Amino acid sequence: MTDSTLPTTGAPATPAPMRVVGLPLAHHDFVDKVKGTQLYAADWKLPGMLYGRVVRSVVPSARIRSVDTAEARALPGVIAVLTAADVPSNRIIERASGGLGELAVEMPVLAGDRVRFTGEPVALVAAVSQQIADEAAELVEVDYEELPGVFDPESALATDAPRVHDEGNVLVEWNIRRGDAEQALAEADLVVTGEYRSQHAEHAYLEPEAGVAWLDNGVLTIRVSTQVIEHAATISGILELPANKVRVISSYMGGGFGGKEDMTVEPYLALLVWHTKRPVRMIWDRQESMLASTKRHPFVMRYRTGVRSDGTIVAQDVDIVGDAGAYPYLSARVLFAGAALSCGPYRTPNASLRSRAVFTNNVPTSAFRGFGAMQVVLGYESQMDRVAAALGLPPAEVRRRNFLAKGDTIPTGESLDTAVASEETLRRALDRLGDPPAPSGPTKRVGRGFACNMQPYGRTIWFRDRASAWLSLQADGTLLIRSGITDLGAGQAASLCQIASEVLGVPLEEISVYIGDTALTPPAGGTYATRQLYMSGNAVLHAARQLRERLAPVAAAMLGCPADELSFTDGLVRGGPAGTGLRLAELVAGCERREVDTSVLAVWRAEQGAFDPVRGQGDSFPDYTYGTHATDVEVDIETGEVTVLRYVASHDVGRCINPMRVAGQIQGGAMQGLGYALMEDVVFEEGNAASTLFAHYFIPTAMDMPDVEVEIVESGEGKGPLNARGIGEPPIANTAAAVANAITAALGRRPTQLPMTPERVLELCPD
Ligand code: MOS
Repeated sequence: MTDSTLPTTGAPATPAPMRVVGLPLAHHDFVDKVKGTQLYAADWKLPGMLYGRVVRSVVPSARIRSVDTAEARALPGVIAVLTAADVPSNRIIERASGGLGELAVEMPVLAGDRVRFTGEPVALVAAVSQQIADEAAELVEVDYEELPGVFDPESALATDAPRVHDEGNVLVEWNIRRGDAEQALAEADLVVTGEYRSQHAEHAYLEPEAGVAWLDNGVLTIRVSTQVIEHAATISGILELPANKVRVISSYMGGGFGGKEDMTVEPYLALLVWHTKRPVRMIWDRQESMLASTKRHPFVMRYRTGVRSDGTIVAQDVDIVGDAGAYPYLSARVLFAGAALSCGPYRTPNASLRSRAVFTNNVPTSAFRGFGAMQVVLGYESQMDRVAAALGLPPAEVRRRNFLAKGDTIPTGESLDTAVASEETLRRALDRLGDPPAPSGPTKRVGRGFACNMQPYGRTIWFRDRASAWLSLQADGTLLIRSGITDLGAGQAASLCQIASEVLGVPLEEISVYIGDTALTPPAGGTYATRQLYMSGNAVLHAARQLRERLAPVAAAMLGCPADELSFTDGLVRGGPAGTGLRLAELVAGCERREVDTSVLAVWRAEQGAFDPVRGQGDSFPDYTYGTHATDVEVDIETGEVTVLRYVASHDVGRCINPMRVAGQIQGGAMQGLGYALMEDVVFEEGNAASTLFAHYFIPTAMDMPDVEVEIVESGEGKGPLNARGIGEPPIANTAAAVANAITAALGRRPTQLPMTPERVLELCPD
């Protein structure tokens, strides 16, 4: 990070400074990562280990006539070849989300008589080397009878479209209704319409899907790169084992972004270990990962926005169609978030918001950073600029006239009970950009654009979320934290240490954190939905406060002062006349003498609520993170190339637990968003992915993009620990809309389809 990108903090109402929280501290995981000594999932080997490989469908839609494994089995070194018949319970049912008409579609672990996408797992191989496993996979003969497929969700809606599942092609429909949108549109001074399309995108984590599994005293143990160790329950279901006979351990991840929120290698490792009784490792190489892993949902978004002549929004009518691909995964929930957030951070008194998740024979789509609430930013922020242009008002002014405020009700009927600092993030982002740049030549046009957003943090509120954490002060005064949290690489575990250190005064270097083990750590829920700071951060905060409350009377007695005069800092408890302080080790000894336990298990429960899908009203998410991104771009009108000259990203994080981590999340999110905006596209040709290598799936590199300049706002109001808000997903969401608005400002014509490649932008350029 250069000086110019150092974050600044402050305003509107900066929360009181703390001793440890708020500092840009390095943590236990930094050194291993910088030195390259961190052991990721693929780095593990066990004695006698076998190597696994998935045999995948080479066609997008077919009946399986037969699977012939004889040749594969005969290859020397092959230990097992498994097919659907070898799976004890060959169906996974995604827990229903509660949407209208939601189909209960089963997902097979291995395809039986039917495949629905290219890349669908059909068989498994385990062999004594990876090379033999790969060769054996090629020898598995699958006889396909090809069936007609459907490859875009709008075609799949037609009544005569091929059915991806017998149950139908529409997985779920959500309707959110408030007031009377039709009437309000009819009476509006201006109605602006727009249609926007987003693409399939790949998570493109540096670390592909990987894991090692083995039997440990009869317990099936899987060490895997996953966001969600709770899949242990699903795995025990597949193998028809008791839940306590499956243990999942998460390794530190080299990125997940939602792509490791569903299971990846886990069920295949489980099956191979169970059948061979030997350790097995499975690594999906990049091509396999890009071919068959879940993708971001492409959305088709149709907007009608009604405003008064002063720019005040009176109604939004939004229709969203999302391509779910061949199986449900988390599509129902993603499309809920899409509809619920489709009006953005603006007061919308009348709303008719519909979203549908539609099956196709494309690779399944599921969670990806932003989770439906990010695709729609292109829709609502393009609409806001269109309104501004039509009314001749400054785009920032139109936003200011419509921003939500604390106490306002959003289209779901939910009332906002924390600060909405959108306006502050907008001011900070635009101020930081300063004067607009001049074009660098006669064939260049420059333009400035910005986009505001609101992104939920925490799970959909009717899932009754909870997280637990265990803290233990050791005899020598050091602290152990145990939490079922998984660490994506964003410092989820480290943040817990910083919070505990703040409360208990244990120096950071004297805290060890053990995470992500279904057998040994208290359940924390997965790392997704920007929920872990909110959930596990609160669990640790409450555990630390409980522990301190238990220690305080002992310390007070030992120091001879009232308990409420104690301070816990720098490994000491201070108070009373002596002033010298009690070392934590001495305090633990005192507790031991008095039979006071120095460990605490705390469970923290999120807010709860209910949503009625028929009325389309209810509670949706616990809270939101607000932000604005602003950018100056230059377009080469001879080539259509877009150069991002400056990029500023501002978000209200409530309170900054670690400004270095927050800035890292914002910079990473914006950079990933720039890839989504300008270049990334998993192109499918009749269901077959044409881009399965980084040679043709372009992600931005440090050479392509400018520094992302970060403006952190701390409103002091959030529902996470110490009033923090989540920042994992929010910063990817604004980027495409900010860039689209900047290109529009440069060219006077609007891109509406992602990614905004030179070919597409050139079409908008003057001849
Ligand atoms: Mo996420 S996209 O909820 O990991």
